[in-house]
Amino acid sequence: MAVEIKSPEDIEKMRAVGRLAAEQLEMIEQHIRPGITTGEIDRICHEFTISEQGATPAPLNYRGFPKSVCTSVNHVVCHGIPSDDKVLKDGDIVNVDVTLIKDGFHGDTSKTFFVGKPGILARRLVQVTQDCLYAGIREVRPGAHLGDIGHAIQTLAEASRFSVVREYCGHGIGRVFHDEPQVLHYGRRGTGIPLKAGMTFTVEPMINAGKPAVKLLPDGWTVVTKDHKLTAQWEHTVLVTDTGFEILTHRQDDTIERIGTGVVASGTGTA
Ligand code: MF3
Ligand code: CO
Ligand code: CO
Repeated sequence: MAVEIKSPEDIEKMRAVGRLAAEQLEMIEQHIRPGITTGEIDRICHEFTISEQGATPAPLNYRGFPKSVCTSVNHVVCHGIPSDDKVLKDGDIVNVDVTLIKDGFHGDTSKTFFVGKPGILARRLVQVTQDCLYAGIREVRPGAHLGDIGHAIQTLAEASRFSVVREYCGHGIGRVFHDEPQVLHYGRRGTGIPLKAGMTFTVEPMINAGKPAVKLLPDGWTVVTKDHKLTAQWEHTVLVTDTGFEILTHRQDDTIERIGTGVVASGTGTA
């Protein structure tokens, strides 16, 4: 099946919900400190989504997921379930992954926060993972291939002596939460479908400090590293524009531009 191309009206709605998702991560930042539980983070986000943003938290009851956001601490790769029993402590890292629905469209974004002052390895892993997200996004332009994104991410992760999780990937997004295409975070340049203006998808690399293997806990959701070493993730929802990319979930603390212009492939100029 072909990947959906959004209409200008759809894109406006994707921009609006993307902005709300970004603002939710900006809002939660002030609450992330030693002593807070992931259950409290979930309640604050849930209340903000519904009462302040007039939106719906997409994870709640999605395929049976019981909470409104995912909170993944230290060796938890993704889909951590918020709990009142999980108290964050100084030195932890926690990914908060929010997905909102507004006006029928989804915005999906996540960030790994520091709790107090993590050690040097955790800080380097989190920074490299954000750089991997940015390296993937910078490949996005019409005519580029999906595999270019994965290649850029894998190259940077492995050059940093970290590893890429293979079992979970980015995804097309719009009226549907998890749509085609699958956006792998590893791969070879020039492989996969060519990107076209109007496509919207997430890029959400999960990068491990140790080996790439993961395992699913018996709760059916929580994914952890098999070697129990640290892991980090960052995610944005991205639009392919006529000339490059637009990050629909861009925040004030992002260190990549919201809109980027791709390099025009040689030999296709009109001059
Ligand atoms: N937000 C996650 C993603 O990036 C998906 C979470 S699904 C849930 O695709 F059910 F676990 F919430
Ligand atoms: Co997400
Ligand atoms: Co996603």
